[in-house]
Amino acid sequence: MSPGADQFSVLPRHIAFIMDGNGRWARQRGFARTHGHEKGVEVLRTITRRCVDLGVEEMTCFALSTENFRRRPDDEIDFLLDLLARYLSKESDELDELGVRLKFIGRIEELPPGCRADLERSVRSSSANEKMTLRLAINYGGRCEIVDAARQIAREVAGGTLDPAKVDEKEIESRLYEPMMPDPDLVIRTAGDLRISNFLLWQSSYSELYFAPSSWPDFTTADLDRALEAYQERERRFGSIGVDESSDSGDRG
Ligand code: FPP
Repeated sequence: MSPGADQFSVLPRHIAFIMDGNGRWARQRGFARTHGHEKGVEVLRTITRRCVDLGVEEMTCFALSTENFRRRPDDEIDFLLDLLARYLSKESDELDELGVRLKFIGRIEELPPGCRADLERSVRSSSANEKMTLRLAINYGGRCEIVDAARQIAREVAGGTLDPAKVDEKEIESRLYEPMMPDPDLVIRTAGDLRISNFLLWQSSYSELYFAPSSWPDFTTADLDRALEAYQERERRFGSIGVDESSDSGDRG
């Protein structure tokens, strides 16, 4: 068994991370915001290793939202894309050693061609790794993802290849960025804000949410373990009633 894995009786198969607070962390220490992102990459490396050790099968990390992409100063976006390129080239050997397959979700087609080529190369070269999937959400927004699926459905209906009466949850899911992706069991957000910020809106309908006070650059494996301890106590009902509850509870959980 992997180190520490026996500590938890129930392990989330898929953990999603909203890695928030890089900018504030850096400013509070008198650094440029970009330094917070650099520190954030180190934390991503540490948390990836811990998730592999624990036996988590999937990690999805919010690295750049569509809103960040549109609203942040160009130089911060350029810095983040350059940081991503450096991360991919520097980490690829370690990710191979760990058995981590890389994937990306988001409006990847809007990224600069050089960046798209880096992402495609990383996906291809890591595709045989089987221990864990690390998925980075880049230029990603949950609403955009649903809009893109809706546009695809509209095109198929207009083209006569899809019957509108057949459009159901499965048809929508099959047009999301990664249709086979399992829903996250646990979404962890760092830096204290209590919101989901347009991350995996469709897929997190029944996810357990955990909010950590630490900024992402300060987030440690001990913080991750605390989130996993909290997860042990959650009763996941997926809309059914709990074992000890009466049927008139009215809870939609
Ligand atoms: C939010 O913090 C974080 C981001 C916009 C970027 C997240 C990126 C990383 C953690 C680096 C890893 C990613 C790559 C490229 C491999 P914020 O800057 O919005 O923080 P604030 O809310 O304190 O301003």
